Amino acid sequence: MSSGTPTHTGTARTAAESVFDWVDDASDDRERAGLTRTLRPRVAGEPILDLASNDYLGLSQHPTVIRAAASAAQRWGAGSTGSRLVTGTTELHRELEEELADWYGAEAALVFSSGYAANLAAITALSGPGTLIVSDQHNHASLIDGCRLSRARVAITPHTDVAAVRTKLSEKDCPHAMVVTESVFSVDGDTAPLHELLQLCGEFGAALMADDAHGVGVLGRSGAGAFNAAGLSYAPHAIATVTLSKAIGTQGGAVLGPRRVIHHLTQSARTFIFDTGLAPACAGAALAAVRLMRAEPGRAERVRWVTERLHKGLMAAGLRVSTPGAAVIGLPAGAPSAATTWAAACRAHGVVVGCFRPPSVPDTSSRLRLTARADLTDEQIDRAVEVVASNAPAHLRGGA
Ligand SMILES: Cc1ncc(COP(=O)(O)O)c(C=O)c1O
Repeated sequence: MSSGTPTHTGTARTAAESVFDWVDDASDDRERAGLTRTLRPRVAGEPILDLASNDYLGLSQHPTVIRAAASAAQRWGAGSTGSRLVTGTTELHRELEEELADWYGAEAALVFSSGYAANLAAITALSGPGTLIVSDQHNHASLIDGCRLSRARVAITPHTDVAAVRTKLSEKDCPHAMVVTESVFSVDGDTAPLHELLQLCGEFGAALMADDAHGVGVLGRSGAGAFNAAGLSYAPHAIATVTLSKAIGTQGGAVLGPRRVIHHLTQSARTFIFDTGLAPACAGAALAAVRLMRAEPGRAERVRWVTERLHKGLMAAGLRVSTPGAAVIGLPAGAPSAATTWAAACRAHGVVVGCFRPPSVPDTSSRLRLTARADLTDEQIDRAVEVVASNAPAHLRGGA
């Protein structure tokens, strides 16, 4: 048993002790490529300017939302206690589903424990070996994983290339097809051509699935999302997924669409059936947040305005910046090490920005990602621009 390899201390290592040696090699490789990720706990009350979180409307800190979470936990307990189909559904879950559907402009909604789970559910329950999935090249990891799990044939199309989607749909030689896209792309913040895709799907008898994680709360009337903004609610062949963990300020996810599709998901989506239901505190918080957004629609307008001011400021400072469709702004940062150095310099000046490196980016170029928040003051926006611009690597300044 103890016939293992010798270590630098001279003690023989057992075979069992060597099993995970390969993770050290993987770790070394990551370090050399500048791709090591660090877990940094938030410090409560730390005076930082946050342009990295997804709390677009500042609702995670809103007293009404926090109170709703606390009172749901008091009423229903700290956990949901079981799968949605067993003991994990409370009246709050049902109310939330009705509120979400009504606000979003869908016949029905189904709430999941995360946006990730909602995406896996929507793709895997609505496709299979007889389906062609046409998936945008820049789609989020949760959509990619859904495609992989679906056992469908998957065609990846160039980013927002409607003609390429048409070609793939016209070549379909199986019974079903589904086009999968983000509404607002999570790294660069640009938007999908929803109108054209919806029309194309109608023409070819395909379903459209749009992940509205970064559109909900920001786009549309009172933040009712990308479909609402595009005047496309209630399409019979479209579904949307949203997360409750970004603009909605808590945690969880939902699928929205035709009632019969939602019913099908309750019967067949594995991440609905075999996952513990969303915690009541999150359901209560999400319900309060959606009601707040509807009652005070100015938040969505404000975050769009903040995004525009940030974007203009960064452009005026000579930086290359993506054109934001909602509240996400991407700045190409070159090699992973350049992105980490840039983000660290911003942090040292009290401005926290997202640092996206492979595999979180859709290509090999790392990005800084800035997310706007409705509660940023004009002074904070200008300060953020100043810090990001003055700490940019020399070759990225002055529009180079
Ligand atoms: C586009 C997109 N979809 C889905 C998700 C997953 O949502 P959640 O964090 O609620 O699981 C994210 C989160 O980063 C996202 O950016």
